Amino acid sequence: MNIQTKKGSAAQVPCDLLVVGIVEEAKRLDGLAAEIDTETDGFLSRVLEDLNFKGKTGSVMVVQTPEKFSAKRIALIGLGKAPALTLETSRIAAAIAFEAAKLWRAKTVVLPLIGLRKGVGVKQIAKAMVEGARLAAYRFVRYKKEENGSEPETVFIVAPNGNDARQAEIGIEQGELASQGTIFARDLVNTPSVHMTPADLVKAAKSLIKKKGLICVVVHDKKELEKMGAGGILGVAQGSDHDPFLVHLVYKPKVKAKKRVAIVGKALTFDSGGLSLKLADSMMTMKCDMAGAAAVLGLFSVIEELAPNAEVHGIFAACENMPSGKAIRPGDILTLMNGKTLEILNTDAEGRVTLADALTYAVKQEPSVIIDLATLTGACMVALGEEITGLMSNNEALAEKLKCAAVEAGELVWELPLEKRYKKEIESEVADYKNIPSTRYGGALTAGLLLEEFVEGKPWAHLDIAGPAFTEKPLNAYAKKGGTGHGVRTLIEYLRGI
Ligand code: BES
Ligand code: MN
Ligand code: ZN
Repeated sequence: MNIQTKKGSAAQVPCDLLVVGIVEEAKRLDGLAAEIDTETDGFLSRVLEDLNFKGKTGSVMVVQTPEKFSAKRIALIGLGKAPALTLETSRIAAAIAFEAAKLWRAKTVVLPLIGLRKGVGVKQIAKAMVEGARLAAYRFVRYKKEENGSEPETVFIVAPNGNDARQAEIGIEQGELASQGTIFARDLVNTPSVHMTPADLVKAAKSLIKKKGLICVVVHDKKELEKMGAGGILGVAQGSDHDPFLVHLVYKPKVKAKKRVAIVGKALTFDSGGLSLKLADSMMTMKCDMAGAAAVLGLFSVIEELAPNAEVHGIFAACENMPSGKAIRPGDILTLMNGKTLEILNTDAEGRVTLADALTYAVKQEPSVIIDLATLTGACMVALGEEITGLMSNNEALAEKLKCAAVEAGELVWELPLEKRYKKEIESEVADYKNIPSTRYGGALTAGLLLEEFVEGKPWAHLDIAGPAFTEKPLNAYAKKGGTGHGVRTLIEYLRGI
């Protein structure tokens, strides 16, 4: 599927399917719809009336057009009421349009700038629409090859004049980048743990050294982790037959950048819970426990094209959490990379243990900012549900920037407090810290508080993506079952804004 821009009127471009957004409760047809109506001697208004098409959110109908019209068919897509229009409306509309095009085997599709209105740029709309179409087109096909013959060949995003067409072109490029990175992450998350071992994650990282030569990858194996004193990573991994790796990617821009950003991802290729074994149902989706690292890799898969004005370090500790005769036990005490000791009371709270070392390692790179992404706690899902990331930060300005980036990216984020009063929950009687609190209340916060202990006061933000990283049911027209690639688009927007 090729997505390109075209200048002119969408009602004039010959195609198999022309997409028309219909706003609910609009007094009359305007813009493109009005133009089509004139072109077709009132066909469109008659059809809307006959079909009783009201423009409700998510509604869609495909109609055959009169023969002399440029498009063979029109897909009517309901956008909901005008005041409720957002970029998400445009994204979803493009995703629905893609599905309709597939169903009707349209080869050429014309997409106008759906949801264009005062205060929203052509660039943003085009970007959102590309994301909608590309992410809707995503299938995980490694194990089940799907006939994809009916996907459209060409999609024209049509902009009325030259200036808008240029803006649309930039938007298309940005949308392609965001989708590509997201899809890269989705594939990694969807790959079952048998084929996504710590060594496979290393391979995925190394596959990104290419093209412009601005990315390098350093991999620390078990021996080196021992030398570094990475007791957290080694402890969590010791029950598994797969050795752990600490992976460190570096993107250096051509011109020396002022800022150095470290992005750390949780990378449990499988989380069985270890000896504190999970119940069967909660284990079912635990191949997703490396989604933080997948987001880091998704970002790095497009970082050379994104070309941010920052040196970016991607860091993750790839491990598997398994029960065995060699596994770490509840009650064991680990000495971490920064010399602090950690009492393990529940081996299922393993993410914070590996992240403690990964964050210590990140601090050593002397970054100006640290961001981590982790499928860290079920408690965050209880608090915010399946679609919202929990953001915790020791730095207001950074939190603000990430929230703005998430809005721009169309990903949902909500800030949670790193309440100091809860710090007593991570104090241990026998070690410097313990890995689980004594209460399950506020579990996302106590996990965040433990991570904070390892960033040595650097500006840091923690994104708990346990909810949105993976979905067990289709969320919307562009996020089907499985890995969502959540976080990649926020990271891209954050770095673009640097
Ligand atoms: N990987 C899980 C968290 C998780 C749960 C992610 C559901 C995605 C979906 C994490 O390692 C974990 O097991 N956390 C425990 C912590 C508890 C033992 C303190 C949890 O949330 O139950
Ligand atoms: Mn766990
Ligand atoms: Zn986990």
